[in-house]
Amino acid sequence: MIIAIDGPAAAGKGTLALRLAAHYGLNHLDTGLLYRAIGRKMADAGLDLDDPEAAGRVARELDPADLGHGDLRGREAGELASRVAVHPPVRSALVDFQRSFAARAPGAVLDGRDIGTAICPDADVKIFVTASAEVRARRRTDELAAKGRSVSYERILAEIRERDERDSVRASAPLRKADDAALLDTSDLGIDEAFAAAVAIVDAKRG
Ligand code: CDP
Ligand code: CDP
Repeated sequence: MIIAIDGPAAAGKGTLALRLAAHYGLNHLDTGLLYRAIGRKMADAGLDLDDPEAAGRVARELDPADLGHGDLRGREAGELASRVAVHPPVRSALVDFQRSFAARAPGAVLDGRDIGTAICPDADVKIFVTASAEVRARRRTDELAAKGRSVSYERILAEIRERDERDSVRASAPLRKADDAALLDTSDLGIDEAFAAAVAIVDAKRG
């Protein structure tokens, strides 16, 4: 079984994907981590993030060890990721790895932006997770505050809007709900409620 989870930043994709993978006994791949590692590597090497060829080279040379880099989950890496993610050579370099991961027994949950549309168009279940930009910014602000880092809600909201825009307008595999994906709006749902709704979607699909 392959479950594709897509959606904008801080919609709750990662949290849902982890819980679904544990619930159904599947592997899990956070595909955003691949783009984050490439952006980080380019920035650390002083390479031009807007150069598609340089970005493609770094993507083709990506090593599993690069995914263990210190702060890949943070806001800066998210911003770097969305800048390198626009380049077609970067996206094509990552296709085979993601598809092989998905094909491995017993199956997998992959979360990202283009899993249902480009990476696994034949996934058994596709869920497009979303929430209003305001709710997503509030979640990220609270998440940072819980780690003792205070960043203003307005600033996080602006970053989220900018990243949504860049991810949606790019020509190559933009953020888009697949026609056959179920829409899960978590604006008014807590984590447990969102998980229950996702399980209902998966179980209905499996029959
Ligand atoms: O992976 P993605 O960026 O889409 O989101 P996430 O990292 O799974 O979730 C972002 C934050 O929102 C986390 O702190 C979650 O605990 C929180 N969250 C929530 O409060 N309510 C939900 N229904 C889903 C996530
Ligand atoms: O957790 P959050 O949604 O904030 O970020 P992420 O899923 O780690 O993705 C970081 C960035 O990588 C996104 O803003 C996209 O630009 C890019 N990305 C992508 O283009 N395709 C994917 N399958 C996953 C991430």
